[in-house]
Amino acid sequence: MTTDSKFLRVFDGEVFASPPTWFMRQAGRYLPEYRKLRAQAGSFLDLCFDPDLASEVTLQPIRRFDLDAAILFADILLIPHALGQKLSFVENEGPRLEAVAALKDLDAFRKRDVLETLSPIFETVSKTRAGLGSDKALIGFAGAPWTVATYMLAGGPMKDPGVLRQKLYEEPELIDGLIDILAEKTIDYLLAQIDAGADAVQLFDTWASGLPWPVLDRVSIRPLDKIAKAVKKARPHVPVILFPKGVGEKALDYVLLQGCDGFGIDYAMDPTWARANLGERVVVQGGLDPLLTVTGGKPMEEAAETYLRLFHDVPYVFNLGHGFTPQTPPDHVAALVKFVRRNG
Ligand code: CP3
Repeated sequence: MTTDSKFLRVFDGEVFASPPTWFMRQAGRYLPEYRKLRAQAGSFLDLCFDPDLASEVTLQPIRRFDLDAAILFADILLIPHALGQKLSFVENEGPRLEAVAALKDLDAFRKRDVLETLSPIFETVSKTRAGLGSDKALIGFAGAPWTVATYMLAGGPMKDPGVLRQKLYEEPELIDGLIDILAEKTIDYLLAQIDAGADAVQLFDTWASGLPWPVLDRVSIRPLDKIAKAVKKARPHVPVILFPKGVGEKALDYVLLQGCDGFGIDYAMDPTWARANLGERVVVQGGLDPLLTVTGGKPMEEAAETYLRLFHDVPYVFNLGHGFTPQTPPDHVAALVKFVRRNG
């Protein structure tokens, strides 16, 4: 299959002097046009569930920076919301889920048809795909089961990771049951995004970081293996990118998974190690510390140069090592894109 999308061609093994570029959290509060639309929409959830507004927000960074890929504007916590744990966002506090998931909830979760509640998201995908040129890819996404489970078990961001780590040992039925349900629902959700027009999918496992061995295998690697395998089996041409944050050399266990086409490296990972150990096995994506885009200038460009130099001879996607923070000046992003295009 030939395509004029640079982003997709990298997954067919093509190497570009200037690699395809997109950024995690490329749509969001650092953009004035986002803040304006967000204020009109009402709540963050209203925005996510309005296909016209959500597709507009998805396209904003593409228009401004001419990036090679758009990422669906939604959130990893829409799955718990669709499972019945009502989601809200408290200003300056982050997400809050109405209830804390317990063993007694698992049957109801399992029976729930999340695709019906999430149908506006698929409409956003189709609308966005229709608004993009054929040279641009559209990335769908979901949270990895463990990361989503941490919010479901804590009712919001976990305040004390030790509490959940204890649950891993003391309530295995709850943890493993929940992870299993989330893996199944996530497979359905990603396939529906693909059928609506997503060209690739990414799984965010932000809280893989800090998990004890061998729990990492139990709650992160194995569930992601299951999801990636199922997606590849059903839609073999769609690249699957894994982004487990903070896993260090365990990255090797992820890239060796049959269904893993791309691997997002976080800002803590040594890019020289990543080039040597991952660079020939999968498409490596990202790495740059997002806080460098707050600083801008020489420090940002020197770091970008390091990634471009190390990955110049293998398929690579330029990106960050985690998402933009609201403090990033959009001008720094424009300068970064220009730097990558000129120096690649
Ligand atoms: O541009 C994109 O990257 C696409 C959209 C996207 C959002 N969240 C929009 C969003 C994606 C891919 C996510 C992923 C996400 N959401 C993750 C995994 C990646 C990561 O950042 O670690 C996690 C853990 C979440 C959960 C979540 N959603 C949190 C913790 C928060 C609050 C963060 C904060 O700084 O307030 C959100 C809200 C959220 N999701 C915003 C955006 C643009 C800010 C909401 C607003 O406009 O007020």
